[in-house]
Amino acid sequence: MILRQKSSNDSQSSIQTGLFLYPTKNLLKDIESIYREGIFEIGESEIVITEDTRASTSAIVGVALGDEGKGRIVDNTIEEYLKDKKIKKVVVVRYQGGNNAGHTIEKGRIKLALHVVPSFVLHKKAVGVIDRGTVIHPEDLQTEVSYIEAAVGNISERLLLSQDAILNTDLLRAEEMKNRIIEGKAAGGTGRGISPSYAHHIDRLGLTICDLMAEDWWEVLGKQYDRYDKEFACFDIDIAKDLDVPDFDNTVKLKKSQTRKVGSKKTYLERIATAREWILKNKIIADTFSFHKKNYQDTSVAYVFEGAQAAGLDSWLGTRPDVTASNTRVDGVKEGTAFWQAQDIGQRIGVFKIPYTSSVGARRMPTHIELPINSKTQNSKLKTQNGLGDSIALLQNDNHLTEDQKWALWVREEAHEYGTTTGRPRDITFLDLEFLRYNARMSGVNAFIGTHLDTATDEQQIKVCTHYTDKDGENVAYQPGLQYQKDVVPQYVSLPGWDGKACQSAKSKDELPIHAQKFLSFIEAQTGFPIIAVTTGPKREHYLSL
Ligand code: IMP
Repeated sequence: MILRQKSSNDSQSSIQTGLFLYPTKNLLKDIESIYREGIFEIGESEIVITEDTRASTSAIVGVALGDEGKGRIVDNTIEEYLKDKKIKKVVVVRYQGGNNAGHTIEKGRIKLALHVVPSFVLHKKAVGVIDRGTVIHPEDLQTEVSYIEAAVGNISERLLLSQDAILNTDLLRAEEMKNRIIEGKAAGGTGRGISPSYAHHIDRLGLTICDLMAEDWWEVLGKQYDRYDKEFACFDIDIAKDLDVPDFDNTVKLKKSQTRKVGSKKTYLERIATAREWILKNKIIADTFSFHKKNYQDTSVAYVFEGAQAAGLDSWLGTRPDVTASNTRVDGVKEGTAFWQAQDIGQRIGVFKIPYTSSVGARRMPTHIELPINSKTQNSKLKTQNGLGDSIALLQNDNHLTEDQKWALWVREEAHEYGTTTGRPRDITFLDLEFLRYNARMSGVNAFIGTHLDTATDEQQIKVCTHYTDKDGENVAYQPGLQYQKDVVPQYVSLPGWDGKACQSAKSKDELPIHAQKFLSFIEAQTGFPIIAVTTGPKREHYLSL
């Protein structure tokens, strides 16, 4: 990958815009030259940067529907920065979302599921910042840090929590539950009170970490409890004992989803008091603005901004209504840090899964693969009865599956597409280039990193959606909002698969199976974004710069 200053004859963004506006313009030509004539290249494009870009600064965001593998890309990026002898420290910043995220990182025997703590924890020379755009549940933060420290030793001395971060407590989770009851259905959230926390930040009813750390915190948080108590009484709900909210501490201990009641005001505040004590003892509260100001001009400090969720879940530009409540784009670093701008960041990476996309939540994407029994409860029953992965059980029990369904079930097992926290089976959809082009453009990324290159075999073709049409065959564009996708007809090409396992031993792009190389080249050609690295397995070493 080459970082190049923007010049007057720069054409990368005009290529991207051309493909965004006219997705089928080069389709046949690209297939012909890559797959028939064997003329292709990968990783040759340049990332265009501008003069005001800060050196050694990256953002890693999802450009699909979450769970793309951003955590381990952050971990790999830290490692790449530390190979440079001039870099003495890498600062990793989470700037939006809360512990609704699940970022998995692995090193040797250590495998960690992180939720709101940035993916810096495996590197001693890295510092983690949980910045002001995040929503923080103090007790859950204590649990998460303790869980990490049990595996890797002390991290709190390298962890900073912004005093301005948004406070999330069981009251906000109770509100999410109350909304579900009133709506008569699961609203599609993780239940961790993320959207009520952001909603109250905007309607100015919310509190911040500053309020928690202030001397009069007991009164201030107690008043908030009273307010909720009154509000819930209007719905005939007793805030103390009627609602079940997620109990992260016991979930981690028992490795199974657990819930608890909010409890009386005293119980509620006492639980928070324990976490507050822990925060004070570990001295993690920081004025992150001043921290960034100090580090900005220090060229021995690299920065990695770690996005959570993804463009497809962005509250404004995602698959509304099934979205999260924060700005998941690169420009979210501005409101999430109150210091950085997107244009400070040279390497703005969009992460996506190469051979397929996964989705959790209620949404049905146009490229969704319907499975014969896809209800989560039925699948769980199968799992318990047979002691097998859900999808294997399905594959064994049903001979009438289509090739698409067999492929989706195989992918789910092969890539272990089950929720990091909940264990829920994820939906598998075909890779959708129309969706990817939109997300990449609106996220403000300038390059891609693709994950799961090893989830393929040379016996299976891979279907890729190149664009959408209406039922009369006229091209239609992806627009954010599920209402726009109801009637679109995804158009597919079937491309040859490759030996996924062989990818793991490749030391350079030329050593990748030829059809893997062609597939990557096809994605680059069809989106206009360079793919600068791929992952070929879950371990840190399964990472290949192109
Ligand atoms: P919320 O963020 O808890 O409000 O959930 C809103 C939607 O975003 C739901 O469909 C969640 O499943 C989805 N979501 C939130 N965080 C993630 C994530 O990290 N990966 C994938 N989906 C997520």
